[in-house]
Amino acid sequence: MVLVTGATGLVGSLLTLELLRSGQKVVATRRATSKIDKLKKFFSFYVPAKQAVQYYNQIEWREVDLLNAYQVYEILEGIDTVYHTAAIVSFTAKDKEEILTNNIKGTTNIVNAALERNIHKFIHVSSVASLGENPGGFITEETQAIPEQKISNYAKSKYYSELEVWRAHEEGLNTIIVNPSIILGPLVDWKRKVIGKMLYIVWEGLPFYVDGRTGFVDVRDVVRAMLMLSEKEIFGQRFIINAENLTIKEILDMVADAMGRPRPKYHINEHWVKAAFWLDQIRSRLTFTDPLLTKEYIKYININQQFSSKKLLRTLPDFRYTPIKETINFVVEKFLNSLSEKERNKTNHLNKFF
Ligand SMILES: NC(=O)c1ccc[n+]([C@@H]2O[C@H](COP(=O)([O-])OP(=O)(O)OC[C@H]3O[C@@H](n4cnc5c(N)ncnc54)[C@H](OP(=O)(O)O)[C@@H]3O)[C@@H](O)[C@H]2O)c1
Repeated sequence: MVLVTGATGLVGSLLTLELLRSGQKVVATRRATSKIDKLKKFFSFYVPAKQAVQYYNQIEWREVDLLNAYQVYEILEGIDTVYHTAAIVSFTAKDKEEILTNNIKGTTNIVNAALERNIHKFIHVSSVASLGENPGGFITEETQAIPEQKISNYAKSKYYSELEVWRAHEEGLNTIIVNPSIILGPLVDWKRKVIGKMLYIVWEGLPFYVDGRTGFVDVRDVVRAMLMLSEKEIFGQRFIINAENLTIKEILDMVADAMGRPRPKYHINEHWVKAAFWLDQIRSRLTFTDPLLTKEYIKYININQQFSSKKLLRTLPDFRYTPIKETINFVVEKFLNSLSEKERNKTNHLNKFF
C-alpha cells in the first residue's frame, strides 16, 4: 500500500488523486486540525465533481502529527511506498521555529520509521531551495549549498530535511528526491499561498514590477515526474523538476494577459521595495493584519536563478513539461471562478494614479 503525507496540500492532493486513478490503494495522512473536505474541491479541478467525491471516499485516512515519532511509526503499518510531501511552506519570519522544527524533525521521524519498517521506496519532495547558488549559470543537482548562506528559514529547513533523507539512504532506505521550483496549480484557499496572493494583486491591478528571475513548474508535471521516477526505481539520486526559468515581469505579464488585465508597466528598484516594506509594516500594525511583504520576501527581490532540468529529461525520455503559459491559463481560469462578486469588482486604487 502507498502512503502520502501532506495529502491536504497542493502537491499531496493531486498525487493522491493520480494514485487513486491508477487503481492503487492510498493511505493519506491528516493532522487532527486538517481540513480534509477540501480534497473534494482539489480533485474537482481535475475530474468531474461526482468522480471527485467517489475518489475522495476511497481514501484511507490515518491521523498523524509528523512531530510525534510514535504516531509516525504506527501509520506506516502495512505500507510499502511512502511519498513524503508534508512540510510548512512559509516565508514569514515569525514562523521560524515552526518551519525549522516541523520540516526537519518531521522528515527525521518519517525516514527513521521507514527504515525500521523496511519500507521499499521513499519519495521525498524537497525543493530547489535546498540547492546551492551558481551566479550567471544554471543550478543543477550537483550545485552544493552552503547552509549558512540560505536566505530563508524555509530554504534552511528544506536543506536540512534533505540531509536526513540522504542519511537514511546511506543507512539502507531506497530514496528518490525531487527538487521542484515554484509550483503552480489551482488552490482551494488562494490567500494562503504566495502564488494565490500574487494572482489577487494582479487581478486588482498591479502597476509595478521588480527585477528577478526564477523557475516555475506545473503541479501536474511535479506529480507525473514523481510517479514516473518512482516506477523507474533509480534510488539515491535527486532530480530538479523545473519547466521554465522566467523573469518576474514575464510571469506577471502572463498572469495579466490570462486575466485580461493590464500588464505591470513600471519597473521599481530595490530601494523602492524596501520603502514599501516599511510602509507595509506600519499598515500591518495599524490594521492588526499580517504584513503583505516580509523580510524574507524582500531578500528574494532581484534573485536571479536558473535551474537545469536536463537530468530529469535524460532519465525520463518520454516526459514533457507543460508550457508555463498553458499552466497560467489553467490556474487563472480556476482562480477567476473562485472570486466572489465583491472581489470581482475590486481594483487597486494605485491604478488611478498610473
Ligand atoms: N509550493 C511550492 O511552490 C513548492 C515548491 C518546491 C517544493 N515544495 C515542497 O513541496 C511539498 C508540498 O508543498 P505544498 O505546496 O503542496 O504544501 P501545502 O499545500 O502547504 O501542504 C502542506 C501539507 O503538509 C501537511 N503538514 C505540515 N506539517 C505537518 C505535520 N507536522 N504533520 C503532518 N502533516 C503536516 C499539511 O497538513 P495540514 O492540512 O494539516 O496543514 C499539508 O497537507 C513541500 O515539501 C514543499 O516544501 C513546494
